[in-house]
Amino acid sequence: VVTLADGRSVRIRRIAPSDADALARAYDDLSWEAKVARFGSPPAELRGDPLSYLVSPDGVDHVAFVAETTGDPAAGIVGVGRILRYPDDPDSLDIGLTVADDIRGLGLGRVLAAALAVHRPRPARRLLTAVGRTNDAALRLLTEFGLPQRRTDDLVEVDLSG
Ligand SMILES: CC(C)(COP(=O)(O)OP(=O)(O)OC[C@H]1O[C@@H](n2cnc3c(N)ncnc32)[C@H](O)[C@@H]1OP(=O)(O)O)[C@@H](O)C(=O)NCCC(=O)NCCS
Repeated sequence: VVTLADGRSVRIRRIAPSDADALARAYDDLSWEAKVARFGSPPAELRGDPLSYLVSPDGVDHVAFVAETTGDPAAGIVGVGRILRYPDDPDSLDIGLTVADDIRGLGLGRVLAAALAVHRPRPARRLLTAVGRTNDAALRLLTEFGLPQRRTDDLVEVDLSG
């Protein structure tokens, strides 16, 4: 359990298949801008196989945490962080971070990024992930893993081999 900058408490735990409905609702509640920043070409809704995949990581090559507020169970999932190997490039990891629009800037993204840095799949040489040019918050969070280097307009790399 961690305390955010506004004093509210948030519990961080591993995601589970039983989170499917709550995750679908959390996705519905996200702004379009956040969906695009996270998913690139976001689906209209999160259902079926893609949803099942997101709530059933193997815990080894695909690790994911959710954040939920402790005082208000109705608030449901307010943050998700995941990290996983690329199936076609097993030395590289991708990361996905999402924090509910109304509690951004309170430190939850950093907490999730720090948890992923500790529990990331190992071994792996690099983190390679899409971060838009103007997404400064996401770029700052990658410093939990090392020094982010921009490879292309969208792609950022962090060397994990050191
Ligand atoms: C990126 C995201 C996860 C950050 O979550 P958050 O809870 O707001 O992050 P934090 O409050 O921990 O802030 C992280 C850092 O970004 C900075 N930051 C936060 N909002 C910012 C903004 N709008 N502009 C610039 N910097 C910002 C914070 O100061 C902090 O930096 P510091 O720790 O070095 O001081 C959240 O904005 C989000 O869900 N965005 C949409 C999805 C997305 O872009 N995901 C990343 C790509 S996978």
